[in-house]
Amino acid sequence: MNLKKYLLPVAIMALTACSQTDDTERRIDRLISQMTLAEKIGQMNQLTYGDEEWLAEQIRNGVSGSILNIPDAATVNRLQKVAVEESRLGIPLIVSRDVIHGFHTIFPIPLGQAASFDPAIVEQGARVAAIEASACGIRWTFSPMLDISRDPRWGRIAESFGEDPYLTSQLGVAMVEGYQGDDTSDPSTMAACAKHFIGYGAAEGGRDYNGTTITERLMHNVYMPPFKACVDAGALTIMTSFNENDGVPSTGNRHLLRDILRQQWGFDGMVVSDWNSTGEMIAHGFAADLKEAAAQAVNAGVDMDMMSHAFISQLEELIDEGKVDMETVDNAVRNILRLKFRLGLFENPYVDETYAAEIQYAPEHLAAAKRAAEESAILLKNDGTLPLKGVRTILVTGPMADAQHDQLGTWCFDGEPEHTVTPLAALRKLYGDKVRIIYEPGLGYSRDNDRSKLGRVTALARTADAVVVFAGEEAILSGEAHSLSNLDLQGAQSELLRAAKAAGKPVVAVIMAGRPLTIGGDLDACNAMLYSFHPGTMGGEALAELLFGDAVPSGKCPVTFLKEVGQAPYYYNRNNTGRPASGNEMLIDQIPLRAGQTSLGCSSYYLDTGFGPLFPFGYGLSYTTFEYGDVKLDSNEYTPDQTIKVTFTLSNTGKYDAVEVAQLYIRDVAGSIARPIRELKRFERIALKAGESRTCTFELPVSELAFMGLDKRVKVEPGDFKLWVCGDSVSGEAVDFKVI
Ligand code: BGC
Repeated sequence: MNLKKYLLPVAIMALTACSQTDDTERRIDRLISQMTLAEKIGQMNQLTYGDEEWLAEQIRNGVSGSILNIPDAATVNRLQKVAVEESRLGIPLIVSRDVIHGFHTIFPIPLGQAASFDPAIVEQGARVAAIEASACGIRWTFSPMLDISRDPRWGRIAESFGEDPYLTSQLGVAMVEGYQGDDTSDPSTMAACAKHFIGYGAAEGGRDYNGTTITERLMHNVYMPPFKACVDAGALTIMTSFNENDGVPSTGNRHLLRDILRQQWGFDGMVVSDWNSTGEMIAHGFAADLKEAAAQAVNAGVDMDMMSHAFISQLEELIDEGKVDMETVDNAVRNILRLKFRLGLFENPYVDETYAAEIQYAPEHLAAAKRAAEESAILLKNDGTLPLKGVRTILVTGPMADAQHDQLGTWCFDGEPEHTVTPLAALRKLYGDKVRIIYEPGLGYSRDNDRSKLGRVTALARTADAVVVFAGEEAILSGEAHSLSNLDLQGAQSELLRAAKAAGKPVVAVIMAGRPLTIGGDLDACNAMLYSFHPGTMGGEALAELLFGDAVPSGKCPVTFLKEVGQAPYYYNRNNTGRPASGNEMLIDQIPLRAGQTSLGCSSYYLDTGFGPLFPFGYGLSYTTFEYGDVKLDSNEYTPDQTIKVTFTLSNTGKYDAVEVAQLYIRDVAGSIARPIRELKRFERIALKAGESRTCTFELPVSELAFMGLDKRVKVEPGDFKLWVCGDSVSGEAVDFKVI
């Protein structure tokens, strides 16, 4: 090999990158040297869109470096013109927005995308969002949300990738790459924002904004890995979280933002507070007033304040009093300007308004959204009713069958319901010429308790060959500040299912929700259940094709489904108790009357719900069946620098071509601290034709078995391990290996 030929271009590329970085840093320094203190503080102040004249005045005077929620491309151009042409130094604005699961073309909610276990479709969704939003001048999105969510009462579980750190890391990185592309100065990209740093999803009791008590080791082993992965993938910004952990709000946590994020992880991007999270440190009882809150946030390492006005109103005085150093302010401004340079905003501050209008809902965007919706649906139950075959008449019922707004899901500001393809519309369009479709919603919306139409549903069901009930949650019942303490189907939806079942015809339930609901009691009232979370703009077409077998379900639970809300928090990667449940425990109706005082099963379980969940993490059926076999490791002993090569045979033993999400779990049998009973370490979507078998491989570097142990150092501990390759987090035969 001609090494010179190979190395020279690499060396030139590296040198070019270095000189670009040096050049950017020089431009930043030059700008900072020209800025007044007021202009510096202005860059650190983010405002939301409102009275445009007032905003223009702030921008002209250099009082704000970033605006969120500007409604359209023309307004972005107008305000950007004020920043670039009318402010003293002409520093462009950075315009941001919550583009969480699509901009106009809406993809499934992130929890739904997580059910696909498909980084490629997640990346594509983020790319589509970036193309549509950046065309309107939005170059910074507050996504991905990386909060590990182990409690479905918490409404923001919808915005998360579920309960698993590895899945969240993989999908978070895919989103960052989709938003930011290969070159962030390309005007069709957006800066990603990994949020909420950190622990926000562990809110006590699932009540939003609540405090958390995450230990240092748990923080490093469970909550931080997705953030570290996204920082390594080049995420340009980080948002601090609302919660306090062990008494310290993230927005004022110097150890978190300076020691870990900046020093240990080498993050050179920008840190933004959450909306008023600086000001809220007063309510937390961590700061006496806004001045103290401002000092705590900036000294901790927050560069930009979102909407608490703390920096703009307090920093000048804090500097005068010596409570904040000029160097701290300069560093914050440096991080903000670096972001603007990295996005090429100085070169391309404006957008083309015609293109902005043309590119929304492009056919390839809709096709990707449809694929994402298809991959995110989980088949939870099927007695053979699905896919629907030989049916001539179906009754479509339920409040989610034609809910253009609610199907889009939470925290979706730009998706327009009139563009939503609902299941009813899609069934009529795709199958209406072959199948007679009767429609009676039965209930007007998910919380509807008006039972007057239920009798009619039963009567119409008698005239049909099958009934499809679209139930779930309205979009507004999940998301921020939408915690619930009861996770059963709302309103009279369970009764609607029973009314459909009363006709004696096959019933399919399709649940469209923002979280895993406690649907255990509803399973008996249906022959099959497809769980789609809120599937977005193209959800209807995806679901219609899944129902009729033109697509085959492949989604898997990204989070544990509970039998009862009282089981929360419940997650698969928990530590064992000293008395794990065996599954043969005595349940409440078996306890004899006046039983003497005893600890019954002597194990960890609930008297009423037993131990297991309704559906475990990783679970999901298909129209076909898969078998795993011959799981083999290339050795039974490894050193920490080696890679474990696992081979296995996956066979499609059924009648449909389909995709299986193969999963690899490990268990560290005994560590310096107790380790989870299983941890996901690899997964892959594998497509097999009916009857096909394939030998597949996973490679797992032993270094990925590292964790923070008793001595608080992150490393691989030698000892015995178990490994499973299987289709969910509870099945499979363990294979043993050792790390020496
Ligand atoms: C949310 C953030 C969001 C911000 C801006 C806050 O209420 O917690 O996730 O990015 O608002 O809209």
